Amino acid sequence: MRLIIQDSYGKLSKWVANYIVKAINDYQPTTDRPYVLGLPTGSSPIGTYRELVKLVKDGKVSFKNVITFNMDEYVGIREGHPESYHSFMRKNLFEEIGIPLENINILDGNTEDLKVECDQYEERIKAAGGIRLFLGGIGPDGHIAFNEPGSSLYSRTRIKTLTYDTRIANSRFFDNDVNKVPKLALTVGVGTVMDADEVVLIVNGHGKARALHKIIEEGVNHMWTASALQLHRKSMIVCNDDATAELKMESVNYFKDIEKDNLEPCRI
Ligand code: GLP
Repeated sequence: MRLIIQDSYGKLSKWVANYIVKAINDYQPTTDRPYVLGLPTGSSPIGTYRELVKLVKDGKVSFKNVITFNMDEYVGIREGHPESYHSFMRKNLFEEIGIPLENINILDGNTEDLKVECDQYEERIKAAGGIRLFLGGIGPDGHIAFNEPGSSLYSRTRIKTLTYDTRIANSRFFDNDVNKVPKLALTVGVGTVMDADEVVLIVNGHGKARALHKIIEEGVNHMWTASALQLHRKSMIVCNDDATAELKMESVNYFKDIEKDNLEPCRI
């Protein structure tokens, strides 16, 4: 696993956006051979999405032949609700990057049979040829997508009950009222993320410091589901200095040293 440490959120966001653009451009996607990208929501990727929009507008990348799969969606809030992940993605990325609507995949948390929706999502990923790069964030408890502590590290797309901790964390988007945060969500599984050819996680801010320590410096553990990435053949965490507050000095120095020449996003 690579750990890229940037000194600010702005630099982290640029780094990740440039990395994604390079990954897409190196692949040279066409209609018959699209690039398949997994995407998260949350505040962490917002800076990266802003940078991606700029890079599209500057003509550095095109999303015409990119297919996206989002990680998760709440159950029971309408698609047009301002805090649905459908709305989030439309507002923060999709409206600005010229991606064909039919290339966008987001779980439907309002469908009658949620289990069928989850199973079909896995099939759709398979039919698209699998995910090349899954971008993700983490919750303060180290969850990836909505794979809350205790989730199977082999889990697939399914319905999850959100923990009280996660609902409190996300209540900032729901008038700070935990009762307005949905109790259920549909989410890709840890296994679904692990199937991607490559996984890149954004870890930003002091609030994620404990999780980063657990994920990197301790063992693989279903209570910190993002720690599964230790077993991925090509995973990378891009964080800022604040997020390293609970890492050993030795780890920080080690990763800074081995990445010191990679000022531009290099793909190894
Ligand atoms: C939610 C999302 C996760 C995201 C997490 C952290 O739980 N399902 O995919 O990583 O929030 O969000 P933020 O980046 O706002 O801290």
